[in-house]
Amino acid sequence: MTATKGLEGIVATTSSISSIVDGVLTYRGYDIDDLAANATFEETAYLLWFGALPTAAELENLRRDLSNFAPVPDEVIQQMKLYPKEANTMAALRSAVSSLALYDQAADDMSREANEVKAVKLQAQIPTLVAALSRIRKGLEPVAPKEGVSIAENFLYMLWGKEPDLVSVKALDTALVLHADHELNASTFAGRVTVATLSDIYSGVTSAIGALKGPLHGGANEAVMKMLEEIGSLDNVETYVQGKLERREKIMGFGHRVYKNGDPRAKHLMKMSHELGTMKNDTTLYDMSVRIEELITGQKGLKPNVDFYSASVYTQLGIERELFTPIFAISRTSGWTAHILEQYLDNRLIRPRAEYTGLAEQKYVPVEER
Ligand code: ACO
Repeated sequence: MTATKGLEGIVATTSSISSIVDGVLTYRGYDIDDLAANATFEETAYLLWFGALPTAAELENLRRDLSNFAPVPDEVIQQMKLYPKEANTMAALRSAVSSLALYDQAADDMSREANEVKAVKLQAQIPTLVAALSRIRKGLEPVAPKEGVSIAENFLYMLWGKEPDLVSVKALDTALVLHADHELNASTFAGRVTVATLSDIYSGVTSAIGALKGPLHGGANEAVMKMLEEIGSLDNVETYVQGKLERREKIMGFGHRVYKNGDPRAKHLMKMSHELGTMKNDTTLYDMSVRIEELITGQKGLKPNVDFYSASVYTQLGIERELFTPIFAISRTSGWTAHILEQYLDNRLIRPRAEYTGLAEQKYVPVEER
């Protein structure tokens, strides 16, 4: 038995949800470029869950369900108020999502219908939790979800406590479409491993949130913003990047396990970052990002991934850095739950082997003789 570190190149399951072939990302056969240009996040989530774009009536039903499910149990809000204000936001979200299961009497109902309802419910409630988390951390009261509006609009409304502008809603909606699914990424795999024991969907999503938190995965978008803050201005980019490269440190937001010629999602976020900067008459963050890309791609051949330009997009929308990875989780909930439903459909326990590299033929020695 020989181990493949990081399971690189290992095909661990079949899936009909999303695919990456020759650098092209598709959801259910639709190119991500097509969806980013034309689809809403609700249409995208429906596509991931049910395999086809919704009809007008199906979309209307989904929107209604998402609205109805958006309020979260008051007990969970009360618990969140007891979390330390300085706690990591992904750790807080992980705890809150885990708590949701305690107040759902159908949490352990493993029927297909019940799990589909829970997928929609989680998608509706996670944005409410993230917005509430942000407000509680600032000493503000959470804002109740609004009925009849999209997830992007509702999230910004609950976050800011006022009607968001159309440009921000559209930008966030596109970002949610772009982050919704990504084949067997680390967090999706974690979610599938968890439910393959026939554990419940809340456990699967809680595992996935834990995996997304890390800076080698979803946590990279916050790390990118930290880097931009540390650099501070366009003039400092070169010295900062050269220093990192000389110290052989990783530059967050660059590189990818699967894409070696660029992440197809990055160009959309780059364009959005430029548009938002131009609208605000301040393209500093965009200009700094472009210069970093020139240096890293020029010297290391590494291309930006989805996390790189999303940092400047969210900042220019006025969203605090600590919410970047939770927003990724809002979007990826659609993909995670679609994969969990797919796993249940044709389940087999996921239990690989390890190549043993430890000691052999040890003999027990009584404690007084050691
Ligand atoms: N900056 C500098 N060097 C890098 C970077 C980077 N961002 N990414 C890869 N490299 C280098 C490594 O140092 C290594 O060089 P070496 O062979 O000389 O030691 C080589 O490229 C291979 O890197 P690995 O980390 O082994 O590649 P792997 O496929 O395991 O990792 C990963 C992919 C984790 C995404 C990596 O590129 C990385 O750490 N990037 C930064 C974090 C990041 O942006 N993560 C988000 C990914 S997208 C997402 O999850 C949503």
